[in-house]
Amino acid sequence: ATERTLSIIKPDAVAKNAIGEIESRFENAGLKIVAAKMLHLSQEKAEGFYAEHKDRPFFPDLVGFMTSGPVIVQVLEGDNAISANRDLMGATNPKEADPGTIRADYAQSIDANAVHGSDSPESAEREIAYFFSDDEICPRG
Ligand code: CMP
Repeated sequence: ATERTLSIIKPDAVAKNAIGEIESRFENAGLKIVAAKMLHLSQEKAEGFYAEHKDRPFFPDLVGFMTSGPVIVQVLEGDNAISANRDLMGATNPKEADPGTIRADYAQSIDANAVHGSDSPESAEREIAYFFSDDEICPRG
């Protein structure tokens, strides 16, 4: 089924000038970008996005990293977009990511891991609404 997922190109990948190469992987896999913007997240915005992790020991480092530079937040649309995006990204920890995945090729560490993608339909809905209003999403058919 056609789905939408929230994708973030994280500060490490933006700093490496890898935005275009990462977008090409999504497009070459048949995912369509139906919304996108560059943002420098505030601490409050990053904390709210990752609220489910607020009691985890890595939360302060995660928020610090995600506010360290600009990110691209975007909505990808396509057949099974949530799992398709996760397959393209590879495992959260780049040491465990399969060869040829975005994290295997661009990530440095579990924090600086290049990209984020929604992990379920429920989180996709919440995460998309966290960054985009309905009129900022452009269906492309
Ligand atoms: P992301 O998919 O953006 O969701 C939460 C992020 O927390 C994750 O990617 C990692 O970058 C980061 N993180 C740091 N340590 C851990 C950990 N031990 N388990 C899961 N995520 C972690």
